[in-house]
Amino acid sequence: MPADSTFLFTVETDDGEDEAVLTRAEDGVEGYVNRCMHFTHIRIDKGSGAPVRNGELVCANHGAMFEQDTGVCTFGPCEGAQLDRIDIDVRDGGVYLVDDDYAFVRTGGIESDPADLGSTSNVEF
Ligand code: FES
Repeated sequence: MPADSTFLFTVETDDGEDEAVLTRAEDGVEGYVNRCMHFTHIRIDKGSGAPVRNGELVCANHGAMFEQDTGVCTFGPCEGAQLDRIDIDVRDGGVYLVDDDYAFVRTGGIESDPADLGSTSNVEF
């Protein structure tokens, strides 16, 4: 799992499939629903990994920054909001989804996800 990006996977919820990401925080691995808190239909990881800058995930749409270890937005249009956390467990060298609200479906995102259609990045790196 890259330290400077996110690992994307698909989960099943009561409402159908959704996307989630793993990110390597200072104290271990954290899991979040792959939705920006500014506009929840926008994915932070668009399929090739979310950018990470100084311990924070960056939403490329409008530059919101979320702490890797808490999911709290420290800068941007949704400052103070928090990414939806997914409980994971790291043991024996593996990462396991242990959240009753989510079931692992597959690595990678939802195929032909309409969420990002028509959205463009306003942030350059
Ligand atoms: S949609 Fe993520 S910062 Fe606006």
